[in-house]
Amino acid sequence: MIQQKVISKRFGKVDPLSIDSYIKFDGYNALEKALTMHPTQIIDEIEKSKIRGRGGAGFPAHIKARALANAKQPKYIVCNADEGEPGNFKDRIIMENDPFSILEGMVILAYATGAKKGYIYIRGEYQNAIKIMKMTIQNAIDKGYLGENILNKGFDFNLEIRTGAGSYVVGEEFSMIESIEGKPGRSRVKPPYPTDKGIHDKPTLINNVETFANFPHIILMGGDNYAKIGTPSSTGTKLISLSGNVKNKGLYEVPFGTSIRDVIFKLGDGVSYNRSIKMVQLGGASGPIIPEYMLDMAIDFERFENFDSKTGTGAIIVIDERFDIFDILLINMNFFVHQSCGKCAPCREGHTQIVNLLNKIKNHRGTEQDLMSLENLANVIQQTSLCGLGQTSMTSIISSLRYFRDDYFAKVRY
Ligand SMILES: Cc1cc2nc3c(=O)[nH]c(=O)nc-3n(C[C@H](O)[C@H](O)[C@H](O)COP(=O)(O)O)c2cc1C
Ligand code: SF4
Repeated sequence: MIQQKVISKRFGKVDPLSIDSYIKFDGYNALEKALTMHPTQIIDEIEKSKIRGRGGAGFPAHIKARALANAKQPKYIVCNADEGEPGNFKDRIIMENDPFSILEGMVILAYATGAKKGYIYIRGEYQNAIKIMKMTIQNAIDKGYLGENILNKGFDFNLEIRTGAGSYVVGEEFSMIESIEGKPGRSRVKPPYPTDKGIHDKPTLINNVETFANFPHIILMGGDNYAKIGTPSSTGTKLISLSGNVKNKGLYEVPFGTSIRDVIFKLGDGVSYNRSIKMVQLGGASGPIIPEYMLDMAIDFERFENFDSKTGTGAIIVIDERFDIFDILLINMNFFVHQSCGKCAPCREGHTQIVNLLNKIKNHRGTEQDLMSLENLANVIQQTSLCGLGQTSMTSIISSLRYFRDDYFAKVRY
């Protein structure tokens, strides 16, 4: 059994439209327990659990929670359910199967930090999840788990849903804040960070769907017990969106420390038609591309940080021997050309130049000088872009230059 179901343990068992069915499966026990604790004790448990955010950057959850708890009113909590990164579908599946756990996690955090208002920002294309989350909010209000005077404890927390409109960058926290304020989704210069100046310049905490869904489990099992799952540097489980040329595509939950190879071969049943693997892209379009011989690497924040990668999203995209790396890189780079918000030059102009260079090399018209230009430009975009989009979009180029250099030399003219 390489799966370990914590977040997904209720999937298929609870009716996502029925709060009573959630309550039957231990639903809201964590909130009831949390309300008997002092707010700082809750953040202490989160710290002991060592949980890191599941939305990409892997930032320790307790640091943001404590910063918000220490901030003045008004302050906000936001659940990031934008999930625009290609290859990821875990947040949609949580919302469609166990929506109450997300809400329960948000209410626990609201109590711990003193926030009275929150938003769930959902990707616009996720119409089914939007409908379910709206009903979940209403059901929770009707039963006294949300709204005014929650469970008669004199504590208020109100939630609103906001939806995206097809933009990828709006998943980045400052772009999301701008969008919640009713402006176009464009990032801001950091610092100050959202927990200092977020929505309407007031302190704001943003966590991913999967991060919030973990909080009730941390409260119920206790931070120390939670920290026993996974590895010392990456505790808990990770939802993996497995896709591409693999027999059993789907969502799997494994403890951190599981190898990529085990996910592909033991859970995904290997490559379709038993072809061999040419490459695997981790995290999504902004993640690294690695060769087959690296598949024994463990899923772990520290290991993935070697690639400046977004482990937290947990996508594994398998690409078999039939594919040319340049076609995959061009799909990624055209996506970023389309999604750049245009605010800063390295990202706005740079992605188009990268596409031109890749096309030139792919069609055997590129020279060694073009290869050097590609490498230099990728580093410039990564180092000088204003927000996380441009800072991470080059990961697939940079990793391919490291691990698939022969593919470049095979095409370059001398
Ligand atoms: C371009 C871009 C897109 C992002 N999209 C998402 C997203 O769809 N969902 C998400 O949770 N985080 C996304 N992030 C990361 C968020 O900015 C933020 O770090 C995250 O929501 C924090 O939650 P966590 O601490 O629980 O991981 C994105 C970041 C960037 C740079
Ligand atoms: S890096 Fe790209 S998406 Fe981010 S602010 Fe600059 S232009 Fe916009």
